[in-house]
Amino acid sequence: MGLLNAYRSTIGKKAIMAVTGLILVAFVIGHMAGNLQVFIGPARMNAYAAFLQGLGELLWLVRLVLFVALVLHVLMAWQLTQIKRQARPIGYEQRSPQVSTLASRSMRWGGVLLLVFIVFHILHFTTGTVFPAASTPDAMYPAFSHGDVYGNVIAAFRTPWVTAFYVVAMLFLLLHLFHGAWSSVRTLGFVKPSPEPLQRRVATVIAVVVWLGFSVIPVAVLLGVIR
Ligand code: HEM
Repeated sequence: MGLLNAYRSTIGKKAIMAVTGLILVAFVIGHMAGNLQVFIGPARMNAYAAFLQGLGELLWLVRLVLFVALVLHVLMAWQLTQIKRQARPIGYEQRSPQVSTLASRSMRWGGVLLLVFIVFHILHFTTGTVFPAASTPDAMYPAFSHGDVYGNVIAAFRTPWVTAFYVVAMLFLLLHLFHGAWSSVRTLGFVKPSPEPLQRRVATVIAVVVWLGFSVIPVAVLLGVIR
């Protein structure tokens, strides 16, 4: 099957979703691990951020790969939804799912919410365009500062609704990863079908670790554990 034919087929689109999804999972794990350095202290966290900035063109290459992966992931989701709708223009009269989970049924709208989160998040922490913490002046970290990632994180999560927003977004990430991380491996056919698939357990561990690793930061700031 040529590459173009693969792209046009439903299974080809699913394979693109799976591969791009796994690239995004790898980023999310790396980003979470990097963020946890906030618990070591400001010097470590800001040195890490400076190191990433210092990568220069390599950083832009990684950003490009992530951006293309995200666009393809969303585009394939959109196209597969359209194909599904055309195949069944009138929905089921009554539908009581037998084998699907909350995670699998929430992939589409949960994915859209995650997209909204990602746009907000970049405007929040990367560009500083939307920095709600600035409206609650803090003597130590009054406003967004490009060089002080640690200060930005502390300032942001002292505002309870910002923390709540992130914690809720991480719940959607948990659901999305729980289904995506294992179904992608199944789509790509790396493992044989089984009633107790190993990848399901691996995906559960990844989803829970990522959820905890991300959520612990805003919560720790709000509780004053890190300041
Ligand atoms: C509590 C959870 C999170 C915290 C505290 C956090 C923190 C941060 C911070 C401080 C930055 C700016 C880094 C810098 O300018 O050096 C950043 C950038 C970013 N984060 Fe997060 N993040 C979280 C969750 C997420 C999640 C779940 C995703 C994706 C689903 C994500 C995707 C990104 C992206 C794409 C960037 C931009 C990277 C770049 O500038 O190239 N983050 N995050």
